[in-house]
Amino acid sequence: MKSLIVYYSKTGNTEKVARSFARGLGGEIDWVKLDLSPEGILKGFQPKFTLDARPYDLFCLGAWVMVMKVHPFLAAYIRECKNLEGKKVAVFLTGGASFSRNHAYEDLLHILEEKKVKLIGFSYTPTLLGLTLTKGKLKKMEQFGRDMRRIMEQGD
Ligand SMILES: Cc1cc2nc3c(=O)[nH]c(=O)nc-3n(C[C@H](O)[C@H](O)[C@H](O)COP(=O)(O)O)c2cc1C
Repeated sequence: MKSLIVYYSKTGNTEKVARSFARGLGGEIDWVKLDLSPEGILKGFQPKFTLDARPYDLFCLGAWVMVMKVHPFLAAYIRECKNLEGKKVAVFLTGGASFSRNHAYEDLLHILEEKKVKLIGFSYTPTLLGLTLTKGKLKKMEQFGRDMRRIMEQGD
Protein backbone atom coordinates (compact mmCIF):
# COMPACT_ATOMS: atom_id res chain seq x y z
CA MET A 1 0.00 0.00 0.00
CA LYS A 2 1.31 3.41 -0.96
CA SER A 3 0.16 6.45 1.01
CA LEU A 4 0.78 10.15 0.90
CA ILE A 5 0.72 12.21 4.08
CA VAL A 6 0.23 15.93 3.52
CA TYR A 7 0.25 18.01 6.68
CA TYR A 8 0.73 21.47 8.06
CA SER A 9 2.08 22.08 11.56
CA LYS A 10 3.20 25.38 13.02
CA THR A 11 4.14 24.50 16.62
CA GLY A 12 4.71 20.75 16.21
CA ASN A 13 1.52 19.17 17.58
CA THR A 14 0.16 18.05 14.22
CA GLU A 15 3.62 16.82 13.27
CA LYS A 16 3.76 14.54 16.35
CA VAL A 17 0.26 13.31 15.60
CA ALA A 18 1.26 12.66 11.96
CA ARG A 19 4.31 10.61 13.02
CA SER A 20 2.23 8.46 15.37
CA PHE A 21 -0.42 7.98 12.70
CA ALA A 22 2.25 6.92 10.19
CA ARG A 23 3.70 4.34 12.64
CA GLY A 24 0.30 2.68 12.85
CA LEU A 25 -0.42 2.96 9.13
CA GLY A 26 2.82 1.38 7.90
CA GLY A 27 3.52 0.53 4.25
CA GLU A 28 5.19 2.91 1.84
CA ILE A 29 4.64 6.56 2.76
CA ASP A 30 5.57 9.78 0.98
CA TRP A 31 5.46 13.02 2.94
CA VAL A 32 4.64 16.60 2.05
CA LYS A 33 5.00 19.16 4.82
CA LEU A 34 3.10 22.23 3.75
CA ASP A 35 4.89 25.52 4.00
CA LEU A 36 2.87 27.92 1.93
CA SER A 37 3.16 31.54 1.11
CA PRO A 38 0.13 33.76 1.80
CA GLU A 39 -0.86 33.27 -1.84
CA GLY A 40 -1.03 29.52 -1.29
CA ILE A 41 2.14 28.64 -3.21
CA LEU A 42 4.28 25.88 -1.71
CA LYS A 43 7.58 27.51 -0.78
CA GLY A 44 10.69 25.94 -2.25
CA PHE A 45 8.83 22.96 -3.63
CA GLN A 46 7.11 23.77 -6.89
CA PRO A 47 6.30 27.11 -8.47
CA LYS A 48 2.70 25.96 -8.66
CA PHE A 49 2.05 23.50 -5.94
CA THR A 50 -0.31 21.02 -7.55
CA LEU A 51 0.40 17.40 -6.76
CA ASP A 52 -0.88 14.40 -8.62
CA ALA A 53 -2.72 12.03 -6.26
CA ARG A 54 -2.89 9.22 -8.85
CA PRO A 55 0.06 7.08 -7.59
CA TYR A 56 -1.36 6.80 -4.06
CA ASP A 57 -3.81 4.24 -2.67
CA LEU A 58 -4.52 6.41 0.37
CA PHE A 59 -4.32 10.14 0.72
CA CYS A 60 -3.82 11.36 4.31
CA LEU A 61 -4.33 14.99 5.24
CA GLY A 62 -3.42 16.63 8.53
CA ALA A 63 -3.55 20.19 9.84
CA TRP A 64 -4.39 22.30 12.85
CA VAL A 65 -7.66 24.08 13.37
CA MET A 66 -7.65 27.85 12.99
CA VAL A 67 -10.69 29.92 13.95
CA MET A 68 -12.67 26.68 14.10
CA LYS A 69 -11.88 25.77 10.50
CA VAL A 70 -9.46 23.51 8.68
CA HIS A 71 -6.27 25.56 8.36
CA PRO A 72 -6.45 27.56 5.11
CA PHE A 73 -3.11 26.13 3.92
CA LEU A 74 -4.54 22.62 3.88
CA ALA A 75 -7.83 23.84 2.43
CA ALA A 76 -5.93 25.59 -0.39
CA TYR A 77 -3.84 22.49 -0.96
CA ILE A 78 -6.88 20.22 -1.28
CA ARG A 79 -8.52 22.61 -3.74
CA GLU A 80 -5.42 22.64 -5.95
CA CYS A 81 -4.73 18.91 -5.83
CA LYS A 82 -5.20 17.02 -9.09
CA ASN A 83 -6.91 13.65 -9.54
CA LEU A 84 -8.35 13.44 -6.04
CA GLU A 85 -11.75 12.38 -7.36
CA GLY A 86 -12.70 8.93 -6.07
CA LYS A 87 -9.61 8.69 -3.84
CA LYS A 88 -9.70 7.23 -0.36
CA VAL A 89 -8.84 9.93 2.15
CA ALA A 90 -8.09 9.89 5.89
CA VAL A 91 -7.94 13.18 7.79
CA PHE A 92 -6.45 14.07 11.17
CA LEU A 93 -6.81 17.50 12.74
CA THR A 94 -5.49 18.99 15.96
CA GLY A 95 -7.03 21.90 17.78
CA GLY A 96 -6.63 23.62 21.12
CA ALA A 97 -10.16 22.85 22.24
CA SER A 98 -12.55 19.92 21.93
CA PHE A 99 -15.44 22.22 21.05
CA SER A 100 -13.84 23.13 17.70
CA ARG A 101 -14.06 19.54 16.49
CA ASN A 102 -17.54 19.64 14.99
CA HIS A 103 -17.09 23.04 13.36
CA ALA A 104 -13.83 21.89 11.78
CA TYR A 105 -15.38 18.59 10.67
CA GLU A 106 -18.26 20.42 8.94
CA ASP A 107 -15.75 22.69 7.23
CA LEU A 108 -13.72 19.66 6.10
CA LEU A 109 -16.79 17.95 4.62
CA HIS A 110 -17.58 21.12 2.71
CA ILE A 111 -14.04 21.30 1.28
CA LEU A 112 -13.97 17.60 0.39
CA GLU A 113 -17.42 17.67 -1.16
CA GLU A 114 -16.04 19.69 -4.08
CA LYS A 115 -13.45 16.96 -4.69
CA LYS A 116 -15.75 13.91 -4.50
CA VAL A 117 -13.35 11.83 -2.40
CA LYS A 118 -14.17 8.85 -0.16
CA LEU A 119 -13.48 9.91 3.44
CA ILE A 120 -12.61 6.62 5.18
CA GLY A 121 -11.61 8.09 8.55
CA PHE A 122 -11.46 11.28 10.58
CA SER A 123 -9.62 11.99 13.80
CA TYR A 124 -9.48 15.11 15.97
CA THR A 125 -6.90 15.51 18.73
CA PRO A 126 -7.39 18.31 21.27
CA THR A 127 -4.02 19.69 22.34
CA LEU A 128 -4.59 22.77 24.52
CA LEU A 129 -1.61 24.33 22.69
CA GLY A 130 0.42 21.16 23.24
CA LEU A 131 -0.14 20.92 26.99
CA THR A 132 -2.48 17.98 26.73
CA LEU A 133 -0.91 16.13 23.81
CA THR A 134 -0.29 13.08 25.98
CA LYS A 135 1.31 9.72 25.15
CA GLY A 136 -2.19 8.26 25.38
CA LYS A 137 -3.44 10.54 22.61
CA LEU A 138 -0.45 9.67 20.44
CA LYS A 139 -1.15 5.97 21.02
CA LYS A 140 -4.72 6.60 19.88
CA MET A 141 -3.34 8.14 16.69
CA GLU A 142 -1.22 5.06 16.12
CA GLN A 143 -4.39 3.00 16.49
CA PHE A 144 -6.15 5.31 14.04
CA GLY A 145 -3.34 4.56 11.57
CA ARG A 146 -3.79 0.80 12.09
CA ASP A 147 -7.55 1.20 11.62
CA MET A 148 -7.01 3.01 8.31
CA ARG A 149 -4.67 0.25 7.13
CA ARG A 150 -7.24 -2.41 8.02
CA ILE A 151 -9.96 -0.56 6.11
CA MET A 152 -7.65 -0.29 3.11
CA GLU A 153 -6.76 -3.99 3.27
CA GLN A 154 -10.41 -4.97 3.46
CA GLY A 155 -11.15 -3.00 0.29
CA ASP A 156 -14.52 -1.37 -0.48
C1 LIG B 1 -4.19 31.89 15.22
C2 LIG B 1 -4.63 30.61 15.89
C3 LIG B 1 -5.97 30.27 15.86
C4 LIG B 1 -6.42 29.10 16.49
N1 LIG B 1 -7.74 28.80 16.44
C5 LIG B 1 -8.18 27.67 17.06
C6 LIG B 1 -9.57 27.33 17.05
O1 LIG B 1 -10.43 28.02 16.50
N2 LIG B 1 -9.95 26.19 17.68
C7 LIG B 1 -9.06 25.38 18.32
O2 LIG B 1 -9.46 24.34 18.86
N3 LIG B 1 -7.74 25.66 18.34
C8 LIG B 1 -7.27 26.79 17.73
N4 LIG B 1 -5.94 27.08 17.75
C9 LIG B 1 -5.01 26.16 18.42
C10 LIG B 1 -4.30 25.21 17.46
O3 LIG B 1 -5.19 24.62 16.53
C11 LIG B 1 -3.62 24.06 18.25
O4 LIG B 1 -2.72 24.59 19.19
C12 LIG B 1 -2.93 23.08 17.30
O5 LIG B 1 -2.67 21.86 17.98
C13 LIG B 1 -1.62 23.62 16.75
O6 LIG B 1 -1.03 22.67 15.90
P1 LIG B 1 0.49 22.70 15.49
O7 LIG B 1 1.32 22.59 16.78
O8 LIG B 1 0.67 21.51 14.63
O9 LIG B 1 0.78 23.99 14.80
C14 LIG B 1 -5.49 28.25 17.15
C15 LIG B 1 -4.13 28.61 17.17
C16 LIG B 1 -3.71 29.77 16.56
C17 LIG B 1 -2.24 30.13 16.60
